[in-house]
Amino acid sequence: MVVPGSQEEKMFYPPDDLQMDAHVPDFNSYLQMYRKSIENPDAFWKEIADEFFWKKPATGSMLQYNFDVTKGSIYVKCMEGAKTNMCYNVLDRHVLKGNLGEKVAYYWEGNSPDQHLTVTYSQLLSQVCRCANVLKKMGVKKGERVSIYLPMIPELVITMLACARIGAVHSVVFAGFSSESLCERIIDAQSCVLVTADGVYRGEKLVNLKQIADEALQKCREKSSTSVTKCVVIKHQTLRTKCGAARNKLQTPWDSDCDVWWDEVMKDSPEECEPEWLDAEDPLFILYTSGSTGKPKGVLHTVAGYLLYTALTFKCVFDYHHDDVYWCTADIGWITGHSYIMYGPLANGASSVLFEGIPVHPHVGRLWEIIEKYKVTKFYTAPTAIRLLMKYGREPVQKYDLSSLRILGSVGEPINPEAWHWYHEVVGRGKCPIVDTFWQTETGGHVLAPLPAATPLKPGSATFPFFGIEPAILNEHGEELQGEAEGYLVFRRPWPGIMRTVYKNHERFQNTYFKKFPGFYVTGDGCRRDKDGYYWITGRIDDMLNVSGHLMSTAEVEAALMEHPAVAEAAVVSRPHQVKGECLYCFVTVKDCKEFNHTLMEELKRQVREKIGPIATPDFIQNAPALPKTRSGKIMRRILRQVARNERELGDVSSLTDPKVVEVLFSQRCEGAA
Ligand code: WT7
Repeated sequence: MVVPGSQEEKMFYPPDDLQMDAHVPDFNSYLQMYRKSIENPDAFWKEIADEFFWKKPATGSMLQYNFDVTKGSIYVKCMEGAKTNMCYNVLDRHVLKGNLGEKVAYYWEGNSPDQHLTVTYSQLLSQVCRCANVLKKMGVKKGERVSIYLPMIPELVITMLACARIGAVHSVVFAGFSSESLCERIIDAQSCVLVTADGVYRGEKLVNLKQIADEALQKCREKSSTSVTKCVVIKHQTLRTKCGAARNKLQTPWDSDCDVWWDEVMKDSPEECEPEWLDAEDPLFILYTSGSTGKPKGVLHTVAGYLLYTALTFKCVFDYHHDDVYWCTADIGWITGHSYIMYGPLANGASSVLFEGIPVHPHVGRLWEIIEKYKVTKFYTAPTAIRLLMKYGREPVQKYDLSSLRILGSVGEPINPEAWHWYHEVVGRGKCPIVDTFWQTETGGHVLAPLPAATPLKPGSATFPFFGIEPAILNEHGEELQGEAEGYLVFRRPWPGIMRTVYKNHERFQNTYFKKFPGFYVTGDGCRRDKDGYYWITGRIDDMLNVSGHLMSTAEVEAALMEHPAVAEAAVVSRPHQVKGECLYCFVTVKDCKEFNHTLMEELKRQVREKIGPIATPDFIQNAPALPKTRSGKIMRRILRQVARNERELGDVSSLTDPKVVEVLFSQRCEGAA
């Protein structure tokens, strides 16, 4: 690695005032710490572990592993023999030992600006204990799964931490997912309890969550004998206070054998609950992420390693200090929320904003208004949100005082230069470094990211590996490329926060991440390393795509389309989109007796929305009398991508069975598609 600065392109250097009291104050410190983390990982991670509470110390080394499928089953173990509890470390430890009881853990901002409340660390602890006792009373035991389908309200955090306290495994399902998706995830996890809410306002729209949850449970019953015995329902604040009328609009379906109101079971539940002392490698949670075969994968993370890794990445990448007010705009239903709204910030005793609303409601300055209101110092969002807000110009930003901001973060997809500069200049007033953090549900925390006081930035690059991460770039044949290069991004060894398995499917875990290049974890992303050693993510190389920072597979959308009785065949590709980054462009071949028309198009859009969720709504559905195929019958998605983009440079088409098919597709491109 070269000390950066040799390239001619414009670099952005860390501001002096940030360097004065930073955890990693300059590039040399980064290099030194990085070297230690690679040369002596045991000593490096031991020092980090010392900050936390261990009921029993580790007997094994900090990291034991096999990363090579040819040598046997893949495994990673962190701090074997140690006993601890995540919830104790992120709550009790602060309240009992750190005198942080009165410190605010969350500033909750509801969908509408007049809804807000604060939750201190000690309030959070007592609520969590009560909820833990509720779960115990329902019979939830260590190792059992609890599915959570909730909006961004404090009860979401409380329920997750209650699970962590008693050793139950939470499986949070993003509340924008459909009943079908929720059902699939409940069945896979075999959860015994579902926690949901009666409803929620998303902007102007009232969503009846309980009804969706009920539909999901009904589908579970039809598909298998359902495992869920209790459904806990939270009465949403919003609907209770301001919009009393909304409650009447909302019919909450009720099954008195299964359903219980949160308020009622919490009311008399005791405020003390001894944490369950878990093994370091006991599971903490499952979080489903899209897989290229269409069926989502239950990514499993474990207690000790995930604690160390989210705590350290949060502290270093956001250069966390005790007087910070931190805000990550993600939803807790995604890994970003798990790691950087919940566990990382709480492990550090941070005060965070917990935002339920959307960036454009009730006005397009909502995010900036909240930054001013709470004097947010560290702000973390996604390029898609920035591109959305850029469209409204500078005025809605400059109406607010954003001078509290010190560091800006970006996550979810590559950030394009235009959005980077706007974020830097308009939001950050040219004074805040942007930490572009590359990572995945699977990695648990940041793996490539700048450190704000240490790393000179190049807009669009996630810069360098975090501590303990050893990246490599391979070519198609698995040969490692040195220096300036482009190819597959892989990691040569594990770090504490890496996933341990795909829930109940270790085979799939090994096949997906370790089979293609033995000895390496394969990210599925393409990557370029420039001559200064900076890493640039170039996008997915499998059949995955990234819509507004949400990863999904073309296969799952295709499967949803194929379920329509009129569809004979479907192929889905990604197309660049100004705001979302990428969007879905679908090619559909209808059955002989059917007609492709506007009604069908609308039906198909609705079908995908219902099967997967609104985030997967196709932007374009095109009639495809036939699809371009190879002689072996494989759909040539590469060509479809060119059609979707109206690019006639098709490259080598010699393996196509019938080249005429392509001409027809070009002539029938969707209106509105550039
Ligand atoms: C995929 C992982 C990590 C939390 C959010 C998404 C893409 C993520 C970046 C970035 C370029 C990025 C990758 C990755 N990605 N961050 N900073 N620059 N690409 O989690 O749903 O597991 O998706 O998101 O393609 O593989 P996820």
